[in-house]
Amino acid sequence: MNADDQQLRQSLARLLSEAGHGKQWTDAVAQVPRHTFVPTYFYQDGGQWAEVTSASPGYLEAVYANRALTTQIKEDEPTSSSSEPGLMLTMLDALDAEPGHRVLEVGTGTGYNAALLSQVLGDTQVTTVDVDPELTTDAERRLNQAGFRPSVLTGDGALGAPQRAPFDRIIATCGMQSVPPAWVEQAADGAVMIIPIGWGLARVTVDGGKATGRFLDNGAYFMARRTGRVRPRFDELDEQSSTTTDLDGPEALVRLEFPLGLALPGSRTCSWTGSDGSVSAVGIWTPDGSTATAGRDGSVRQVGPRRLWDVVEKLNEQFTTAPIREDFGLTVTPERQWTWWKSEETGWDVPNDYFAE
Ligand SMILES: C[S@@+](CC[C@H](N)C(=O)[O-])C[C@H]1O[C@@H](n2cnc3c(N)ncnc32)[C@H](O)[C@@H]1O
Repeated sequence: MNADDQQLRQSLARLLSEAGHGKQWTDAVAQVPRHTFVPTYFYQDGGQWAEVTSASPGYLEAVYANRALTTQIKEDEPTSSSSEPGLMLTMLDALDAEPGHRVLEVGTGTGYNAALLSQVLGDTQVTTVDVDPELTTDAERRLNQAGFRPSVLTGDGALGAPQRAPFDRIIATCGMQSVPPAWVEQAADGAVMIIPIGWGLARVTVDGGKATGRFLDNGAYFMARRTGRVRPRFDELDEQSSTTTDLDGPEALVRLEFPLGLALPGSRTCSWTGSDGSVSAVGIWTPDGSTATAGRDGSVRQVGPRRLWDVVEKLNEQFTTAPIREDFGLTVTPERQWTWWKSEETGWDVPNDYFAE
């Protein structure tokens, strides 16, 4: 082992330990060579993706910094990354996994998180799945190289891994719009799931076919589960008659970012800047093609099956200041699932039929 990478790994582990992460996970960071899983990464340089390899200056320092690194680009879009180690440990701490637990990870990516899980829980307990066969082939090879032999599967993680169920813990490392019913079906009673949804991380516990729990206080945004690209329908908006709003669109989208991510799963936002450098309009769209824009002049245009700006207006009445994440929760039953604020009695239905997206 190279002395440099060992030293850098120790100092990353120390940093994460000082940040209060669990000792078993910081010990795993000190032991598992992240550079084996991230032999190259990409960064944006003047609008282009540039590749950094192990021969590039600063490579090892970047790999052992508390940084997310983009590890795969397809059609000019990032499609896989090694998440920020601090965020990974926040999720692993919240997962509350112990030796003996059977764990399913959805989103193998580089295989580094599966390696941390294997180090702490034992590789026979770990199953990891990614939709991209190139990634799973590389990840499995790297895991073996680092001495781990977890079960690495290729497929849509929304289906879980029935052949390896039941699981005591399920952790997703790609952004989901809701919880696939297969995960609840494949979870043992008492199982904990950590799921990135919207701008947060839901932590739910399974009991008798129902899963419920709250969001962690940490913000997080993960690469969305791959389901095909969703494009906003801005070009159709000019044909729509406009209505007006009293809302300051840019301010509202920032203040309401978290509840919007839950009320409108998979929603994305953007803004346009005028010649004076200030935001002139904002846009929002969802995977079903619904699209809305709101201009600084108060004009609103909407197209598609859902009137998205109406949802923004409604949330604005409910949240006059940015709400805290831990007040939100998620409940999944075989019949329905919904995200909620403060009490399960209220909230927003999210799709339960995963493949209807
Ligand atoms: C942030 S990366 C995962 C990082 C990974 N855990 C690691 O340690 O490197 C998100 C991953 O989710 C995967 N993904 C996207 N859609 C998926 C799906 N439907 N099923 C399984 N994996 C999926 C992507 O291919 C990508 O590798």
